[in-house]
Amino acid sequence: MTTDLDLQNYIRNIPDFPKPGILFRDITPMLASPEAFQQAIDLLAEEYKDQGVTAIVSAEARGFIFAAPLALALKARFIPVRKPGKLPFDTHSFHYELEYGTDTLEMHTDALEPGDRVLLLDDLLATGGTMGACIQMTEKAEATVVGCAFVIELCGLNGRRNLRGKDVFTLIEYP
Ligand code: PRP
Ligand code: ADE
Repeated sequence: MTTDLDLQNYIRNIPDFPKPGILFRDITPMLASPEAFQQAIDLLAEEYKDQGVTAIVSAEARGFIFAAPLALALKARFIPVRKPGKLPFDTHSFHYELEYGTDTLEMHTDALEPGDRVLLLDDLLATGGTMGACIQMTEKAEATVVGCAFVIELCGLNGRRNLRGKDVFTLIEYP
């Protein structure tokens, strides 16, 4: 049974981390509350339970925290997207921009197949660079993107512009 907590109360705001001018939205209080963490997973599972999701694609590290329990809840495969040099098999690779830097992400070339219905999940939407790379990797594999889900959206950064018109679902929004 899902509780009715205000999940925003489980996010801690840390000014000037990891760089001056960045207001970091810290999810660790949510992770330290089994009730809040469970509620977040339940709300995500409720949103997607009837959408035929076959796989969840998520980027390390914070995305994994939510993607693993959600994959089990939806009985979907968990497909890890990782930083360069971490995945042992052949990979697709994409370069992208972050709110505070640039990075590259990789996914195994055999992780998805045409016909997969993929939910893309991350803890937080900032510029949309990370999710944009996940969308490109998923579409390169000719799989269908069911939607992009986030625990937190930083609306002011307009990350949705990088999400190619995909459906977006968010649990906590900051202006
Ligand atoms: C953070 C966060 C998202 C991404 C959002 O990950 O977990 O994946 O940034 O930013 P964007 O919308 O501008 O791409 P980060 O790269 O800091 O790595 P981490 O999960 O390993 O902390
Ligand atoms: N990832 C990118 N921007 C972030 C922010 N402001 N807080 C937490 N994680 C982030």
